[in-house]
Amino acid sequence: MTMYAMLKPRMSEHEQRFELLADLGAMIAGEVELDDLLATFATRVARALGADRATLWLIDGATDEIRSRVATLPELQELRVPQGYGVVGHVAATGELVNMRDVPSDPRWAEEIAQKIGYPTASMLTAPIIRRDQIRGVLQVLNKSEGTFTERDEEFIRVLAEQIGRAIDYTTLRGDDTQRGLSLRGRFNHVIGTSPAMAAVYEMIVRAAQTDATVLLHGETGTGKGLLARAIHVNSARREAPFVHVDCTTLPAALVESELFGHERGSYTGADSRVIGKVEAASGGTLFLDEIGELPLPLQGKLLRFVQERKFERLGGRETHTADVRIVAATNRDLAAMANAGQFRTDLYFRLRVVEIEIPPLRERGGEDITDLAAHFVDQFARRYRKGPIRLAEPTKPALRAYPWPGNVRELEHTIERAVVLSQGTLLSIKDLGLEPRRQTGVIQIPSESSIGMPAMPPTPAVPATDPDAISLPANLSLEDAERRYAKAVLEREGGNQSAAARALGISRNKLARLLRS
Ligand SMILES: Nc1ncnc2c1ncn2[C@@H]1O[C@H](COP(=O)(O)OP(=O)(O)OP(=O)(O)O)[C@@H](O)[C@H]1O
Ligand SMILES: [Mg+2]
Repeated sequence: MTMYAMLKPRMSEHEQRFELLADLGAMIAGEVELDDLLATFATRVARALGADRATLWLIDGATDEIRSRVATLPELQELRVPQGYGVVGHVAATGELVNMRDVPSDPRWAEEIAQKIGYPTASMLTAPIIRRDQIRGVLQVLNKSEGTFTERDEEFIRVLAEQIGRAIDYTTLRGDDTQRGLSLRGRFNHVIGTSPAMAAVYEMIVRAAQTDATVLLHGETGTGKGLLARAIHVNSARREAPFVHVDCTTLPAALVESELFGHERGSYTGADSRVIGKVEAASGGTLFLDEIGELPLPLQGKLLRFVQERKFERLGGRETHTADVRIVAATNRDLAAMANAGQFRTDLYFRLRVVEIEIPPLRERGGEDITDLAAHFVDQFARRYRKGPIRLAEPTKPALRAYPWPGNVRELEHTIERAVVLSQGTLLSIKDLGLEPRRQTGVIQIPSESSIGMPAMPPTPAVPATDPDAISLPANLSLEDAERRYAKAVLEREGGNQSAAARALGISRNKLARLLRS
């Protein structure tokens, strides 16, 4: 998040407060990237209130403990406080706002917590975060830089706490409306899945995140590589710096170099100003090289040098620059096989796979991950499309678990989105989800042999079989041909709309484009 860049150092207190609220509003309205939100937030709250530091405490719905999520001092470990204990516990239990002007002499002040924090506290303002009549957490600022916290500060922190409550409501932290607290799942709150297979992935990610090692994420399409690349970034010491995504499929070969490394003015026709590349933009942060398997061979060499030495030249420039970035790469291709076949540079492959993390396909994660993800997406889309509360009907669960999900989490996400959009009641049925048996046994009716092999022609319309949605394929096709033809037929069915076809297939638009090209 670029929030720090937007902060002007000499804003008045009033301006800072106003801007903080405006930013929070914008974050809430858009997609909330929870870790970004929380990390950005503490420093700015502290600053806007003229305090030394701010801490956000959230109540864990499962244990009823109050856990510190963000403090402005990064070295601080997560603290856990039982209900009713100390000031935080008091505010969480009663919902009262507490303004302590002389902390050490106040009986509600818990000395042990103070010792754990190891931080002398003089003044302190603590407000409850309440949402839908439930206490979700506590917002606390310590040590007013001049004097003590005023009544105006009290009003402001109340408004802030309310906004935070609203923001949390839009994230995966959101708890059940009927119970206090939130569903905290540790450090990967917006990554759903508690299966042993995913636990092993989180473990690797946390460990890799603590270092600057290059990470290669490998997994089928839609398994969450993009999401996990970001998780590495936000769990690393680089979290305040940029996370820059480079999609190697969408870069036209001729522009890749300039896109990555930037160019000097006049380096080619049309280059009328100097432009910095993505590696420079990621400076101090993380460079995410997505779909690395699609990077054309000649560029692999150029990238190799950067991966090895972090050195590069801008296009048309002679000066050598260095960029301090952590590299995360992702692919669904078998890079080892590609290297053997001479399609991927072996040296680059070895440089990238310092830490290699295999993301398991959804069907190998166990039924609980599938139904947890499904429930999460139902909530998410019900809120996004303002549908009110919607639930999955019980019989959908075995059906969701039985389906093989070739498009993995993305396919599940799109399946649920479509069902939520079209739903009329509050319960999603197997039919709403389109998981009736025909989806697995369906035939694809595609053009006869004679009309194939004319690449310039649009695909012949699918001939309806008994089921108007069915498409049929000859049985003697190679898997590759079958995939391509199936994709074409689906594209046709979606009226040539590539986004809709990609969604129906549970793959990315890029992947669809590639499939159609192959
Ligand atoms: N564990 C998860 N919890 C919640 N959402 C997830 C999870 N895994 C994936 N998603 C969501 O599923 C979608 C697909 O994930 P993502 O784009 O990260 O997959 P990918 O592996 O990069 O796919 P591709 O290879 O096609 O690019 C995204 O919307 C992502 O947010
Ligand atoms: Mg991706």
